[in-house]
Amino acid sequence: MQAKAKSDRPLHVAIIMDGNGRWAAARGLPRTMGHKAGIDALRRTLEAAQGMAISHLTLYSFSAENWQRPAGEVHELMGLLRFYLKTELKSLCENNVRLRVIGDRGYLADDIATMIVQAENKTANNTGITLVLALSYGGRQEIAAAVRALARKVEAGMLTAEAVDEKQIAAQLYTHGMPDPDVVIRTSGEKRTSNFLLWQSAYAEYVFQDVLWPDYGQAHLAAALEDFTKRERRFGK
Ligand code: FPP
Repeated sequence: MQAKAKSDRPLHVAIIMDGNGRWAAARGLPRTMGHKAGIDALRRTLEAAQGMAISHLTLYSFSAENWQRPAGEVHELMGLLRFYLKTELKSLCENNVRLRVIGDRGYLADDIATMIVQAENKTANNTGITLVLALSYGGRQEIAAAVRALARKVEAGMLTAEAVDEKQIAAQLYTHGMPDPDVVIRTSGEKRTSNFLLWQSAYAEYVFQDVLWPDYGQAHLAAALEDFTKRERRFGK
């Protein structure tokens, strides 16, 4: 039996938001302006996703590797993140959006980490779309952390090595309890996974769209889903 891409359950859509810098450069603007415009695109896309059959929207907002960008750009991105968390919480609540953050929070500034916990708690009982922000996120780092956690359990005699299976590993990932992504979209024409949801995307369909992230919106998301629904997903069967 073939599982068709056309799904009768809401989808988990994950997006690698790429092209902010190029969008700014094309206008002779500093990169920060591209990231700022990227936040507007984020808002537009979240709003569009709420009108579609999407249960989870995961956005690659800051990768583990992004810490190696010039200090000024990192500072600006963290400033935008602070601004987003501060100004958006009310609207997330009004729109019944649940917020989750995945990634290594140990690298984030204390005030940001606190704002994240507050926003997650405040939106925890919302029943609409789940917005997942990947912050200081790296797929390999996530898997390594899961392996360390399981090794500690084995060391403590709480688990046998033989009992370590896919379910045990998935339960240790930042995404525990979430469905795997059905579609991973990357904007800007680049065709790389860049360490994003490596474990979770084992059977995801990839959609590459030739649009810079700040220009993204409802029509692009609809087109990506249209592409997805045309595909046949066999899950290796
Ligand atoms: C890639 O553009 C995008 C990022 C580094 C992160 C995405 C960030 C945002 C959408 C804004 C910030 C969002 C939050 C919630 C803080 P790029 O700089 O790699 O673009 P380029 O490849 O054209 O240089």
